[in-house]
Amino acid sequence: MNTAAPMPSMPPGLPTLLKNARRIAVLTGAGMSAESGIPTFRGTRNGLWARFDPTELATPGAFLRDPPLVWAWYAWRTQVVTRAQPNAGHRALAQLVRRPGVERVSVVTQNVDDLHERAGSEDVVHLHGSLFTPRCFDCGLPHRMEDAESAPWSAEPVERLEPPRCVRCGGRIRPGVVWFGEALPQGPWRRAMAAVTEADLLLVVGTSGVVQPAAGLADLARDRGRPVVVINPDAMAGMAPGDVHWRATAAQALPLLLRTCSAAEQEDQRRP
Ligand code: OAD
Repeated sequence: MNTAAPMPSMPPGLPTLLKNARRIAVLTGAGMSAESGIPTFRGTRNGLWARFDPTELATPGAFLRDPPLVWAWYAWRTQVVTRAQPNAGHRALAQLVRRPGVERVSVVTQNVDDLHERAGSEDVVHLHGSLFTPRCFDCGLPHRMEDAESAPWSAEPVERLEPPRCVRCGGRIRPGVVWFGEALPQGPWRRAMAAVTEADLLLVVGTSGVVQPAAGLADLARDRGRPVVVINPDAMAGMAPGDVHWRATAAQALPLLLRTCSAAEQEDQRRP
């Protein structure tokens, strides 16, 4: 997307929503990391699912059919992420918890990168797993990362790379991400539900909102009458009637929101 385009102004009332929120949940998707140079899945010519077929790369059946093809693709994505840096949006989210009156900020992410953590967010739930937690396909034993990192770097994925073998059972190591057709990990899902249930504000940043059950978290907040703020340059993505929509990118909107709230608070303090 063109980040040089003028940003629509902040929706009125948004700073007040943030100011009144003590517990904030944030649901993030691939758009959160787009300005760090990590491609999204949908919506652009460069989107991963426009260039690669998910049925060949992101299902258990795909891995069983052709383990080196799948392993090579994830090794490439791991390297793209390792070379990327958190953007201003990740950093602003990490600072949100320091705002006066804020008790908790829970980041629930569909992303398999580690940019929220590297930006300093402490309460991060990974709904779709992580590129950095590979495990044995057969026995589930966690695998140390060195093997995935040792793949030769290239701007495009190499064709094939034999996955390492499990030190316990000899099975093939698979990426630690959730594939199509697999259930979400129970613990993170429960933590995500609890975070959204307890939140008095939900920010939804950079997700097309088409993949369930993650997208249903916004409905959970709506059903509880909590305000839902969607930050996405796409006019329609993840929206429902009553949501506040800011048609802006993550790295534009989140730092500006934080600065605006801080400036308003300083102004309040100066008033007699
Ligand atoms: P998508 O690729 O479906 O959607 C990315 C969203 O980010 C779109 O709505 C874009 O408009 C928006 N976007 C793009 N650039 C942005 C920016 N700079 N700031 C803010 N928003 C921006 O990604 P997800 O919704 O995360 O699952 O996709 C959900 C799941 O589908 C992924 O976790 C993955 C994928 O298949 C699995 O692999 C299991």
